[in-house]
Amino acid sequence: MMSDSPPSPRAARSAPIGIYDSGLGGLSVLREIRALLPGESLLYLADSRYAPYGEKPEAFVAARTGQVCGWLADQGCKALVVACNTATAHGIQALRERLALPIVGVEPGLKPAAAASRSKVVGVLATASTLRSAKFARLLEALSGDSRFVCQGGVGLVPLIEQGDVSGPAVRDKLRGYLEPMLDAGADTLVLGCTHYPFLSDTIRDMVGDRLTLIDTGVAVARQLQRRLIEHGLAADVAADGTALPADRYCTTMEAAHLRAMAAALLGVDATAETVVIEPAPALA
Ligand code: DGL
Repeated sequence: MMSDSPPSPRAARSAPIGIYDSGLGGLSVLREIRALLPGESLLYLADSRYAPYGEKPEAFVAARTGQVCGWLADQGCKALVVACNTATAHGIQALRERLALPIVGVEPGLKPAAAASRSKVVGVLATASTLRSAKFARLLEALSGDSRFVCQGGVGLVPLIEQGDVSGPAVRDKLRGYLEPMLDAGADTLVLGCTHYPFLSDTIRDMVGDRLTLIDTGVAVARQLQRRLIEHGLAADVAADGTALPADRYCTTMEAAHLRAMAAALLGVDATAETVVIEPAPALA
């Protein structure tokens, strides 16, 4: 285990943490980071112009992840959270080789789900792209001895959530089609393997009651980020001298007004949102 570093210079400690997702899903991770680390300044980037990533070619997701995280690093972020399972699955390895910053990714919570399950049948709802990835295959292989995982691509859910629909008839129809086969197979636990899906938790509970224990890794990701900041001497100071950290920024590659409205609806946050332009690399255009 790495020993904790001495504190970095104050300017580095005061820099924001970049949090990135294809769209609004990463707000479910931001919510946990904000709760655990109230003294940190956050810079959220929703790449909503290109959502859903789960239905894009893997090479696109990998390249776009590198490009957007490069933009966050250029904004002076001291650490990055790739708050997207799909981008983590396809892009994080190359990112870690390229950027000299602490980078925290997310992956479907198979391990906590296997530990929580009594029936040892676990449903996994994630993007089809995450489920196809080599990273997910390795995770599945490592845990399959003890539990059976019933994996399902949540096709069509992300575009509805991006529009702010987390409980309407279209969402319920899709969820019914995805969850019933898991329940029929004996699942008692459901991994929310896409950061958009925690926003469906209330609807899922309304539909299945306590037949499924929901596993969301947002809190674990926030704790991992906290550990990495401490290890690197990058945790923000408690503002004992009254110096304010930079205000949180909520950025999107689509309409700022939509991100603002969604941050209010999903998190109850009164965010000042901005539209940013991150031109696709020529190979992606
Ligand atoms: N929120 C993302 C994830 O965790 C990606 C959803 C998408 O854009 O398809 O996988």
